[in-house]
Amino acid sequence: MAHFDENAKPFSHQWLNDRLAIDTLKRVLSTEYWIPKNINFLWAMGMVLAATFGILLISGIFLLMYYQPNTKLAFDSVNYTIMTEVGYGWLWRHIHGVGASVVFLIIYIHMFTGIYYGSYKRGRELIWLSGMLLFVLFSAEAFSGYMLPWGQMSYWAGMVITNLFSGGSLHADGLVEWIRGDYVPGQAFLGRFFMLHVLLMPLVIIGAIVFHFGTLRLPHVNNQDGEEIDFEESARLYKEGKKAESKVIPFNPVFLSKDVFVMGIYFIFFFYLVFYHFEFAMDPVNFDPANGLKTPTHIYPEWYFLWSYEILRPFPTDPGLIAFGFAQVIFFLLPFLDRSPNVAPASRRGAFKVWFWLLLIDMIVLTFMGKLPPQGIWSTIGLVAALLFFALWIALPIITKLEKKL
Ligand code: HEM
Repeated sequence: MAHFDENAKPFSHQWLNDRLAIDTLKRVLSTEYWIPKNINFLWAMGMVLAATFGILLISGIFLLMYYQPNTKLAFDSVNYTIMTEVGYGWLWRHIHGVGASVVFLIIYIHMFTGIYYGSYKRGRELIWLSGMLLFVLFSAEAFSGYMLPWGQMSYWAGMVITNLFSGGSLHADGLVEWIRGDYVPGQAFLGRFFMLHVLLMPLVIIGAIVFHFGTLRLPHVNNQDGEEIDFEESARLYKEGKKAESKVIPFNPVFLSKDVFVMGIYFIFFFYLVFYHFEFAMDPVNFDPANGLKTPTHIYPEWYFLWSYEILRPFPTDPGLIAFGFAQVIFFLLPFLDRSPNVAPASRRGAFKVWFWLLLIDMIVLTFMGKLPPQGIWSTIGLVAALLFFALWIALPIITKLEKKL
């Protein structure tokens, strides 16, 4: 049995320490969790993501008080009750809508920062894999949430995406009906997507975030130069007061203050969007109630899914589905496809630098093409961009294998 201080007052620091080891916990998770000095504001994106997720949770809880998961009531509960009758309901909806869109912008910045600096290598593979798991979970969370207002885009995007599970010429129609709970999206469909969105997905996401944080603890975060830091030695120097010689700073309070500064700037931008430009996060077609008899002329997903949608679109059904499947899993394999041992910024990695910028530009082009109707020159550009996407991933192991050791 551990030593207990019998004289400690209930709930005093000593009393809690004897029972919960709060001093040790604080050391391990904050004051002696070492962060490299040479990192820039892009390393604050992880905390920005965590904060945005928190905002999505809180705004979602307020929306949940009035939302009705019923095909006859859902549309009005969002567009009439929440938007006009509930005090500040419009504000919570705009925060939730803008948050759902902006979280993907930050996720993409966070992912491409990791790719640029090689933060998925040498002991950091699980950080990357758990990050990709979060990407898939956030995608499922966003998709299920998009169903809830039960507007035209909710209904038809739900129809198109669930149709993907028929597997083209495999005609797995039974699987599609099983997922929908009906022949077409209806009450069973809305009910299950509601459950996924407000309960199962958020629970799994919280677990995955905790796991993602756990995977960071031993390898520590990477740094701008990909330098392999002796964390023990640097931590010792820091604790001895030789801060200038040490290459690290403690997470709390030194790095956290930087994180909070970046978050402050981010929230100015975030609330500027909420108050002045929330419409970018709301599709006008979704302000028409769902109607199974009236297909919208042009069905497209939200901006953050457009690049993978455009990879599916230029091809006939079966190759299109294979291409789409490829796009969903290929990022998971990055730590194993990059064969170079160099952990360094892309700017110092020769052919990889070209690869990185081509991939980024290609995904931006795919995103724009995904929004445009698949006609004429746009569909040709979309096809070329989709083919380039595959070519880049096939080339990756070859160019990185040939890379010179730095
Ligand atoms: C969506 C929820 C996510 C949260 C809350 C989150 C949070 C964090 C935090 C706090 C860090 C440490 C600080 C930093 O480097 O920013 C981090 C690092 C990292 N995350 Fe995420 N992350 C998320 C998603 C992702 C995704 C989608 C990926 C990509 C697949 C990813 C890959 C990484 C990598 C590679 C690092 C290590 C960076 C380094 O060592 O320099 N994370 N994450």
